Parts: sequence; structure tokens; C-alpha cells
Amino acid sequence: MLNKDIAKLINEQVNKELYSAYLYLDFANYYADEGLDGFAHWYEIQAQEERDHAMMMRRYLIDNGIRVTFDKIEKPDKTFNSAADPLNAGYEHEQYVTSLINNIYARAFEIKDFKTMQFLDWFIKEQGEEEKNAEDQIKKFKMFGHDAKGLYALNQELAARVYTPSTTGPAM
Ligand code: FEO
Repeated sequence: MLNKDIAKLINEQVNKELYSAYLYLDFANYYADEGLDGFAHWYEIQAQEERDHAMMMRRYLIDNGIRVTFDKIEKPDKTFNSAADPLNAGYEHEQYVTSLINNIYARAFEIKDFKTMQFLDWFIKEQGEEEKNAEDQIKKFKMFGHDAKGLYALNQELAARVYTPSTTGPAM
């Protein structure tokens, strides 16, 4: 049985991950509307990954005897004035998610919940990758996004992203 605090924090994180999926689908909606289908596709896949994160956490709770509960998922409320805006918002959001995961990790460390620390290791690494991806996108957009040809090439590149469900996943 998991510590109550840890279970509550992970259950809340399930909601945050589902919100992340919702937020990235909202980004995809914006890009689809702008005719940037490659950007939209990239964020549709990102949304799938976020849902996967939520499912991994849900499974961890269930496997540890916790009754998972769902809360309302917040409405994405960002407004975008340029194609760069979601990229910046995405980076900010991932930094926020990293702080949430770190917070759960810190609590697990405090109470010597080594099992949860091991479970969260995967997410710590994943957050590092997600922040790097978000930063890379911003850099590329700064370099190529302001000219029609460059933007077209970038859109093509993002269109090539393939969804691969994580086979490794966190230790349960
Ligand atoms: Fe599930 Fe993008 O963090």
C-alpha cells in the first residue's frame, strides 16, 4: 500500500497529464486552423504521449492498491497570436510539469518510498527529453520559421513524427 500523500500526489498528476494531453490537442487545433498540418500532427502525437503518462501513473496506483479518482480537467485557455506562441507555451508547460514530478520525487525521498522513486525515475528522464524537444523546436523556429520556405520545411519535418508507444516505461 502506498503512502497516502504519495498516492494523492500521483493521482493529481494523472489529472495534470490528462490536462497536458488536452492542452497539446488545443495547440494542434490552432495549427490545423493555421494550415500547419505538420505542427498539428506533432502535437497530436505529443497528446498521445501525455495520455500514456497518465495511464502509466493510473496503473501504478491500481497495482499498489489505490482507488484512482478523477477530477475535472481544466479548459486550455491559451490564446495564440503567432505560430511561435504554442512552442513557447509548450516549453513553459513542460518546465511546470518537471517541477510537479520533482515535487512528488522529493516527497518520496523524504519518506524513503524507494519504490515510487524508482517508478518516477522514468518520468524524470522523460521530462528532460521533453524540455529538450520543446527548446529545440523554439530554436528551429527562430532560425527557419520566419520565412515561407523555412516554415514549409519545418512543417514537413514535424509531419514525419511517428508515435511509438513506450515499451520500456517506468518500473511498476
Ligand atoms: Fe507528461 Fe509532457 O509531461
